[in-house]
Amino acid sequence: MSDQQSVESPTQPNLARRFQECQRWLGSRILGQQALVDRLLMALVTGGHLLVEGPPGLAKTRAIKELASIVHGDFHRIQFTPDLLPSDVTGTEIYRPQDGSFVFQQGPIFNNVLLADEVNRAPAKVQSALLEAMAEGQVSVGRTTYPLPELFMVMATQNPIEQEGTYPLPEAQLDRFLMHVEVNYPDSDAEAGILALVRAEQGSTEMAEPPVQLSQQDVFDARQAALAVYMADSVERYLIALVQATRAADGPVARYVDFGASPRATIALDQCARAGAWLAGRDHATPADVQAAAHDVLRHRVLLTFEADAQGITSNQVIDELLNEVPVP
Ligand SMILES: Nc1ncnc2c1ncn2[C@@H]1O[C@H](COP(=O)(O)OP(=O)(O)O)[C@@H](O)[C@H]1O
Ligand SMILES: [Mg+2]
Repeated sequence: MSDQQSVESPTQPNLARRFQECQRWLGSRILGQQALVDRLLMALVTGGHLLVEGPPGLAKTRAIKELASIVHGDFHRIQFTPDLLPSDVTGTEIYRPQDGSFVFQQGPIFNNVLLADEVNRAPAKVQSALLEAMAEGQVSVGRTTYPLPELFMVMATQNPIEQEGTYPLPEAQLDRFLMHVEVNYPDSDAEAGILALVRAEQGSTEMAEPPVQLSQQDVFDARQAALAVYMADSVERYLIALVQATRAADGPVARYVDFGASPRATIALDQCARAGAWLAGRDHATPADVQAAAHDVLRHRVLLTFEADAQGITSNQVIDELLNEVPVP
C-alpha cells in the first residue's frame, strides 16, 4: 500500500529502516526502558534536547553513551556540581602574554552529544549558560559568538525534585527541552535481562559493536525526511486544540493549571509526532502520534496550581485529562 511507504530521504533510501535498526539495537542494550530509547531517537531526528528525570542507576548514562556510539561525533559528560562555573560549561578566554591577546578555549559544550548529568545540582547561572547555548546554538563571549556544532544534542538528567540541596531548573527555561522523559524502575523480567547482559559484558573484553553507524549527514537527512511527513489539517487542528486547552480559562484543566504551554510546545508536539511517524516507517502523522508524544512534550510545560498540588494531582494526570477531553479527529 502506497500510503504505508515511509518518506524516503531524497538522497538515501531505507534511511528510516536504518534508524529502526538502531532503535532495536538500543532496545537490546537498554532493557525495559523503551520510552527512553524512543525519545533519544526522536530528539536526534528533530534536533531537540531531552530532560530525563529519575532515580540513579536506571541506565540513563548508559543510554546516551550507547546512542553516541552509533552516531559519528564526539561525546562528553559534564557532571553538574554546586561549585561549577558557567565557563566550565561554555569555555573561557585565555590571556596570551606573548602577544597580549585573548583566545577562546572551548568548553565541553562544544561536543556533538552532551550528557549534562544532574543539572539540578548546579546553581541557576550555570544552568542558564547551558540552556541559553542550547536555545541559541552558540556561545557568546564578549562581542564574539562561537557556533556550536551543527549536530548538537543534550541529554540533561535530573534527580526527582524532592531531593535536598538541589536547584530546580527555572520553570521558564524548561521549555527549551523538547521532551521531559521520566524513567522508572524496570520490571522483574527486564531486571533479569539486565543481570544477564551485565554479566556477559563483564565476562568479555570486547565492546558490543552496533550493527549500524549513523553519519552526521544521515541525521540531517533524517531531519529533512521527518519534516516531509504529511500531517492532515484535522490532525494539526487536534494538536493545536490540545495545547490551547492547557491555557483556556474555561478548559477542562483550568483549575489545575496556572500557566499553560507556549507555542514552543505546539512546535515540539508537531516535530515529535512527525518524527514518531517517520521512525515507525510511515509517511503521515496520525492523532495517535500526537497522543504518544503528548505527555513528554507537555509535562514540563504546564505549571500546576496550588489546588492541584494540594490535591496531589500530577501533570501526568492533567495531560491524561486533556487527552480524554479534547475530541480526537
Ligand atoms: N535497563 C537497563 N539495561 C541495561 N543495563 C542497565 C539497565 N539499568 C541499569 N543497568 C546497568 O546498571 C548500571 C547503572 O547504569 P547507569 O547508566 O550508570 O545509570 P544512571 O546513569 O541512570 O545512574 C550500569 O552498569 C548499567 O549497565
Ligand atoms: Mg548516570
